Amino acid sequence: MSKVLILGANGGIARVVIDLFLRETDAELTLYLRNARRLKHLESARVRVIEGNVLNLDELKEAMVGQDVVYANLAGQLKRMAETIVDAMHATGLRRLIFISSMGIYGEVPGEKYKSILDPYRDSAVVIEASNLNYTILRPAWFTNANEVDYETTPKGESFKGSIVSRKSVADLVVKLALDPNLEVRQSIGVNKPE
Ligand SMILES: NC(=O)c1ccc[n+]([C@@H]2O[C@H](COP(=O)([O-])OP(=O)(O)OC[C@H]3O[C@@H](n4cnc5c(N)ncnc54)[C@H](OP(=O)(O)O)[C@@H]3O)[C@@H](O)[C@H]2O)c1
Repeated sequence: MSKVLILGANGGIARVVIDLFLRETDAELTLYLRNARRLKHLESARVRVIEGNVLNLDELKEAMVGQDVVYANLAGQLKRMAETIVDAMHATGLRRLIFISSMGIYGEVPGEKYKSILDPYRDSAVVIEASNLNYTILRPAWFTNANEVDYETTPKGESFKGSIVSRKSVADLVVKLALDPNLEVRQSIGVNKPE
């Protein structure tokens, strides 16, 4: 049984992921967020809810004890967050990290530049890729609320395909990655709806 720590658990994608984990797996979840009250209603034998800031190394280390997988669903100061996550994982001996980033960080989207707006995403990917963790960075296209699971992936170094992807598709991939320690390890993959 996997123990998954979800950072930024009240985020849009994270909430779809949590729903999928609870419906289709027996994973045990630790939900880490800045205002725990918002997810207290999910607490159960399988779900622990912890209040904490990802920029706080000590809080993060405490939350990581006994976990198998860290899934980061964050926005904001992503470089500092990535540094803190990597430090906390090293300190607690965890290896598997799934990190949601964005399409465009390598200039891989044909015809798009996405200049400084993507800097936090680029900088955090550099931090993670320089670590010795078993990371998978996801670079999703624009999210939609379509009620479908329909996606393909592209490896780093290849042009991005498509322009949209459903939140349900991203959630499907996150759950598969969390349950399979050998899937897309040390990879940064684009995620899109096939055109
Ligand atoms: N929208 C798109 O089409 C699209 C496409 C590709 C990639 N992305 C990116 O994919 C990522 C995930 O998307 P999303 O929609 O799930 O994002 P979201 O709803 O904005 O969730 C991000 C979460 O990060 C949390 N957070 C920020 N700083 C934190 C801190 N210091 N400590 C703990 N938690 C913190 C926020 O918590 P609070 O609730 O406490 O603020 C929020 O719940 C985002 O970075 C997004 O920009 C978006």
